[in-house]
Amino acid sequence: MRVRKAVIPAAGFGTRFLPATRAVPKVMLPVLDTPAIHHSVAEAAQAGIEQIVLVISAGHEATGQYFGRVAELEAALEKRGDERLLRQMVEISEMAEVSYVYQEQALGLGHAVLAARGSVGDEPFAVFLPDDLIWSETPTIGGMIDIFDERGSSVIAVKEVPDEAVPSLGIVDPRPMSDTLSEVVGVVEKPRLEDAPSNLAIIGRYVLTPEVFDALERVRPGAIGEIQLTDALAAVIPTQRAYAYRFPGVHFDVGTPLGLLKASIYAAMQRQDMAAELKGWLGSNPFN
Ligand code: UTP
Repeated sequence: MRVRKAVIPAAGFGTRFLPATRAVPKVMLPVLDTPAIHHSVAEAAQAGIEQIVLVISAGHEATGQYFGRVAELEAALEKRGDERLLRQMVEISEMAEVSYVYQEQALGLGHAVLAARGSVGDEPFAVFLPDDLIWSETPTIGGMIDIFDERGSSVIAVKEVPDEAVPSLGIVDPRPMSDTLSEVVGVVEKPRLEDAPSNLAIIGRYVLTPEVFDALERVRPGAIGEIQLTDALAAVIPTQRAYAYRFPGVHFDVGTPLGLLKASIYAAMQRQDMAAELKGWLGSNPFN
């Protein structure tokens, strides 16, 4: 069955971004000038996903509103004759059909995904963690959907990480099939380095079979007292198989201030109207 829907969990507290996240949802913080969540929705749309379900917490409705029309702004841009910006604004609302559901309590990523079950139903679906921003010529999730179409099992994006990062991430036990594809024998959330089966960490892109929802219903709080998506995956792997995809492209974790800063600099360096000035400023060694 074709992957038509994506779930984007965005209901965490975002404590690493306090005080900003006292009032602004973390996913609305801009990478240069574009909210992180925009990049996830754009990647999904590029891969042909039509429906996006945002999982948000109460009070964070701005995240959903971002993808709606903004009539007053559009009228003002039209009056000003700024067609380029007007087109850009309309395109944002036309990327995909975006709806949202609430996660009543932040009980973990797995719990947030489960909150979208009613909207997804009994079909395969993608999950995006908007903290993971991937710049790539082709959408990462599109490559994963191709693998899903061929094999019919869940697909997880992975990246090789240094030893010191292993204990804070979800790690896969891989059986390599090619440079970019492995069968996943097991997954473990936040292992001790000495227990970790590899240095391949799960990055926030998944294509999942609906059986993962059943597993999530059964998962009990695990590492750090949260309901983990990784534990549900671990439960379905013995009967369902799963694959790990090492994606091409440049990855940033924009869930931390430094990661967001690096991604913003990277984004500015891609922009004709900014790159030269930024390069000049950095080269002038303004830090001494
Ligand atoms: P994180 O582990 O980054 O948590 O969640 P967080 O709350 O966003 O940030 P910190 O750690 O407090 O700084 C990974 C993703 O899962 C979502 C988050 O919104 C983020 O997109 N999430 C996490 C939920 O939707 N609900 C939860 O209960 C936990």
